[in-house]
Amino acid sequence: MTTIAIIGAGSGLGAAVARRFGVEGFTVALIARHQGRVDALAAELLAEGISAHGFVADVRDPASITRTLEQVAETLGPIEVLQYSPLPQKDFMRPVLETTPADLVGPIEFSIYGPVAAVHQVLPGMRFLGANRGTILFVNGGSAVTPGRNVTGTSIAFAGQAAYAQLLNEALGEEGIQVSQLIIGGRIIAGDPEKDPSALAEHLWNLHSRRDRFRHQISAD
Ligand SMILES: NC(=O)c1ccc[n+]([C@@H]2O[C@H](COP(=O)([O-])OP(=O)(O)OC[C@H]3O[C@@H](n4cnc5c(N)ncnc54)[C@H](OP(=O)(O)O)[C@@H]3O)[C@@H](O)[C@H]2O)c1
Repeated sequence: MTTIAIIGAGSGLGAAVARRFGVEGFTVALIARHQGRVDALAAELLAEGISAHGFVADVRDPASITRTLEQVAETLGPIEVLQYSPLPQKDFMRPVLETTPADLVGPIEFSIYGPVAAVHQVLPGMRFLGANRGTILFVNGGSAVTPGRNVTGTSIAFAGQAAYAQLLNEALGEEGIQVSQLIIGGRIIAGDPEKDPSALAEHLWNLHSRRDRFRHQISAD
C-alpha cells in the first residue's frame, strides 16, 4: 500500500490529483478543515474505485498538521507523496500600499509555517521508504514567481514558500526524495485543455514519476 496525502483537498485540483494518483494504486488521504466535506469527497472517490479517506487539519495551526499527518501514517502507512495545495483566503490578497504587518500574519502562517510543519512530519516516513520513492509537491499561483501589487500577501508568502521548496529540492535530492513545485498562472478553468484540474494533475503525476525537474509552470494566458 502506498499513500498520497493532499493538504488542502477540495473538489477542484485536490479531487483531480486524488483520481490521478488513485488510478496508479495510491491510497489517498484528503486533508482540509471540514470533516463533512472531505468525507463526502472520499465517498465520491470510493464509488469510483479509489481508496480515499478524509482527515481534518487547519494549515494555519502547525500542531493540527503534525497531529493529522501522524494519524494518516498510523492509519494508512508511511506517506510516499505529500502535496501542499490549500486554496489561499481572499483576504490575503490586498494592494501593497494597504498591507500592514497584521495582514501578513495569515499568509505567512498559511504558506510558510504550514509547509514547514508538514515536511518535518512526513520526512522520517519518506526516509523509511528508501531512495527514489518519496515526493513533496507544492502548488502555487503565478504570484509565487511574479509578484502582483494587488495580491500582496500571497506574493510575499508564496515567494517564501518557493524559496523553501527550492532549498528542500537541493537538500533532499541528495537522499532521493523529490521536491517539486507546480505554478499555475491565472485561474484553474474546468474544461480548459491546459487549465482543467485533470490536466494540472497530470503535470503533478509527471513531476512525481519522472523526478527530473524542480518546477513546472503553466502560463497565465
Ligand atoms: N483555483 C484557482 O483558480 C487557482 C489558481 C492558481 C493556483 N491555484 C492553486 O491550486 C491549489 C488549490 O486548488 P483548487 O483551487 O482547485 O482547490 P481545491 O482542491 O478544490 O480545494 C482546496 C481546499 O483547500 C482547503 N483549505 C483552505 N484553507 C485551508 C486551511 N486553512 N487548512 C486546510 N485546508 C484548507 C479548502 O477546504 P476547507 O475550506 O474545507 O478547509 C479547499 O477545499 C492551491 O495550491 C492554489 O494556490 C488555484
